[in-house]
Amino acid sequence: MSKRWNQERKEDLYYQKAKKEDYRSRASYKLLQLNKRFKIIRKGDRILDLGAAPGGWSQVALEAVGEEGLVVAVDLQRIRPFVEDNFKAIKGDFTTADVKKDIISALGGPVAVVISDASPKLSGIKDVDQMRSMDLFLAVMEICDSALRYNGSLLMKLFQGPQFPEILKVVKRKFRNVKTTKPPSSRKKSVEMYLVARGFYGL
Ligand SMILES: C[S@@+](CC[C@H](N)C(=O)[O-])C[C@H]1O[C@@H](n2cnc3c(N)ncnc32)[C@H](O)[C@@H]1O
Repeated sequence: MSKRWNQERKEDLYYQKAKKEDYRSRASYKLLQLNKRFKIIRKGDRILDLGAAPGGWSQVALEAVGEEGLVVAVDLQRIRPFVEDNFKAIKGDFTTADVKKDIISALGGPVAVVISDASPKLSGIKDVDQMRSMDLFLAVMEICDSALRYNGSLLMKLFQGPQFPEILKVVKRKFRNVKTTKPPSSRKKSVEMYLVARGFYGL
């Protein structure tokens, strides 16, 4: 990372807040704000967190589900465990068949909510990055088909670009209620958007 990036990060309000309040990432505030507004995660829910390292969203999800719930988190990077024993981490690529199988067996049943803050590794080549982003989106959709319960919810990060309308069309075929939003903690200059989809029709 560049010196400027590091400097900007340190001056960032949410970065400092995360340090002070002991959250693993500034991204925690995105989920806190989205969940406060849309009431996506409830006590006792079973949650699947895709693209979860270092674990900021999982931490918020664990607080929201309480002891009765479960959070299964997946990332290419190792996710440091939490003290709670209703947390399971899987290290791997969720676009692959093997990891999808591991996810299903770790969940032990359909989940109420799938959350995904996954970002593709950016190459700087527009077409390649859009394709990577689309691959992640399609993998999340496939995982919803096999792991999300009827009437369940999906919260997912997306990047605005030419594929955005097509992506929305696909999601609207699978969910009754679909909204896009940007929480206050998402940097204004970032092209990320969050999709809140509720009322999964199931297969
Ligand atoms: C912005 S970070 C997630 C931050 C996290 N929500 C938090 O609050 O700590 C995006 C993550 O997506 C992960 N990722 C990207 N593609 C992935 C894939 N195919 N399988 C698993 N993880 C992936 C990256 O490794 C990265 O850790």
